Amino acid sequence: MTDPRALRPPASVPRAMTIAGSDSGGGAGIQADLKTFNALRVFGTSALTALTAQNTEGVHGVHLLPAEFVTAQIDVVLDDIGTDAVKTGMLATADIVAAVAERLAYWRRRLGPFPVVVDPVMIAKGGAPLLDASAQAALREALLPLATVVTPNRHEAEQLTGLRIQSLDDARRAAAAIKAMGPAWVVVKGGHVDEEGSEAVDLLYDGQQWQELRAERIRTASTHGTGCTFSAAIAAYLARGEGVPRAVALAKRYITGAIRHAFPLGRGHGPTNPFYPWDEPGAPAGADGSRSANRSAEEALRQTMGRE
Ligand SMILES: Nc1ncnc2c1ncn2[C@@H]1O[C@H](COP(=O)(O)OP(=O)(O)OP(=O)(O)O)[C@@H](O)[C@H]1O
Ligand SMILES: [Mg+2]
Repeated sequence: MTDPRALRPPASVPRAMTIAGSDSGGGAGIQADLKTFNALRVFGTSALTALTAQNTEGVHGVHLLPAEFVTAQIDVVLDDIGTDAVKTGMLATADIVAAVAERLAYWRRRLGPFPVVVDPVMIAKGGAPLLDASAQAALREALLPLATVVTPNRHEAEQLTGLRIQSLDDARRAAAAIKAMGPAWVVVKGGHVDEEGSEAVDLLYDGQQWQELRAERIRTASTHGTGCTFSAAIAAYLARGEGVPRAVALAKRYITGAIRHAFPLGRGHGPTNPFYPWDEPGAPAGADGSRSANRSAEEALRQTMGRE
């Protein structure tokens, strides 16, 4: 039989790995990450940390995987396929956080310093805990110092810093405190700050410069998985070779579009629409009902890719 290595062309597609939990409802977690990578034309790989029995109404059960099995997934994939970026989501326990931090440091030494986006997921939208108390300390001590970008929401930024966040000024103070924990960049997300306001404002900070990322706040119940989709989009754009400020700005545009074009699914907080760039309203459907092979969808995609 031919050795597959002899047939291998040079790596031609950007690669991103997600290390996160499964959301059986498909709107958040590993499923949202892989759909987002796909939509942004990045080849996604995954290491699962936990399975959740979940739908749009909430988390109904959690089954954790052993830290050694998380390590096994990371090792076999990175050894064979490599990666251009990694994102972490639900890590559940201190053991898993420690194992992930240790393997990322190891693989960065082996493969070169690929970017790591840490979404410090702590609680699901419905209130279910996704990270236990000792794991929060491990996240702060072992993982944040490795992060290229960390993306706390309001609650996570409050938990990490002990500060209360009600305004953009409070978010600035929290971002500065989180920056001191070691990540290169901090994005304090504004989905849950000033929820009555007309904009969703995220704050980007690298220890020197502040950037406000503003977008219209969309009135919708379809916000399940917004955080996963946003951090996966940042990782995808980094895998494509964008620098952090542009990757975050493009990801903000992508999540806003995915929320705006969400389809109603389920009885609770429905998912966003990760593949909206292929399905812009007004795009003529093909003979088979598909909307993919047409000009305006291609244009929307180019915009999403930041190439307009
Ligand atoms: N209603 C909305 N309209 C527009 N943008 C939004 C809305 N809600 C959240 N966003 C944006 O979505 C992104 C994710 O932010 P959010 O604060 O919702 O994350 P999160 O709480 O971690 O989400 P999740 O509960 O899915 O983990 C941010 O860029 C935020 O500004
Ligand atoms: Mg989140």
